[in-house]
Amino acid sequence: MEIEKLFREHLQNYNAYETEENPEGEGWIKLNVNENPYPPIQEILDDIASSLKSKEILRKYPDPFALELRKAILNQLLRDKDTLTNRNTVFIGNGSDEVLDVIFKVFINPGEEVIIFYPSFSLYKVLANLYDAKINEIKLKDDFSIPESIYDQKGKLLLINSPNDPNGKSFDNDTILKICYNFPGIVVVDEAYADFSDNTCLPLLKDVNNLIVYRSFSKTFSLASLRIGYALADAIIVKEMNRVKLPYNTNNIAQLAAISCIKHRNKVYEQNKKIINERKRLSEKLSIYNGISVLPSDANFIFIKFDDKSTTLKFLWDLKDLKILVRHFSKPGLYNYIRITIGTKEENDKFLEVFNSIAEKYL
Ligand SMILES: Cc1ncc(COP(=O)(O)O)c(C=O)c1O
Repeated sequence: MEIEKLFREHLQNYNAYETEENPEGEGWIKLNVNENPYPPIQEILDDIASSLKSKEILRKYPDPFALELRKAILNQLLRDKDTLTNRNTVFIGNGSDEVLDVIFKVFINPGEEVIIFYPSFSLYKVLANLYDAKINEIKLKDDFSIPESIYDQKGKLLLINSPNDPNGKSFDNDTILKICYNFPGIVVVDEAYADFSDNTCLPLLKDVNNLIVYRSFSKTFSLASLRIGYALADAIIVKEMNRVKLPYNTNNIAQLAAISCIKHRNKVYEQNKKIINERKRLSEKLSIYNGISVLPSDANFIFIKFDDKSTTLKFLWDLKDLKILVRHFSKPGLYNYIRITIGTKEENDKFLEVFNSIAEKYL
């Protein structure tokens, strides 16, 4: 039997998400996937360890709707963010990637239009492709701002990443609100990196009911491996998302770990200030080179531009030879850029030392 012939037809043209390389062996500095460079703080690790001491925790199914975690997000984590009205509530997903997958499940019939920006997080196009949507890719302006043409777009979903991966800049709330008013479908804002900035569009949830804002515990709380993400939206949307998600989408330990993160959030935010300070230091240190410009960033990474493609590649290869991984996008308009995740101070020092030795050769 030719099994391939049984696959869903449109998968023939489907390009799967490509995960970044994860090299074996010691000594690598991984500044390529925007992980938080610090492990969860000790209090959170202790709470995870003590949850594992309960004999029941692995045997029992988790709460399918993560009620305690939802309460902690609404009543504690977002309490100060001037966010929610009675109309709004929260959905919990297996990482924010699953949150977006469930949004597609709720809203997209095959052939319906999804608006995504270029460049932006590559998963958007992957999921649009998987759900057989019609993709309308709108190119951001040269300074990575949103073109005016966005206000004329029609479609079912419009995906915004703020701060935007890969350039790192947030979009302002006036623009996002105007998009919500003009777009006839649902506007989705991915705020995976928003805790590294002063911006959030959460307050806009009060103004419009066609907005979904989703966030992640992976970056802010160093919990990438446990997979918890959440969306804030109108209760009507969240109800439908809960109806279509898989029954036990997030596990008990992850739910408890996320609650612990919320309990200890102020200490985590203190730790994350180090990342923000290091972002400033790294940006300043890299700005001194001729032939490179450093873009402003609101995220836990920075995007730098080289004057030409061949120098970019030489840096990339030499960095890799010296066991430092950064991210390069071999895509139109992006050949001259590399994205660097902010590491620990020690990692950044090493990066700067190696970068300087390469710069002496090529810049
Ligand atoms: C813009 C953006 N959104 C979402 C994610 C994934 O987050 P999560 O780990 O919560 O699935 C990433 C991961 O790198 C990202 O860059």
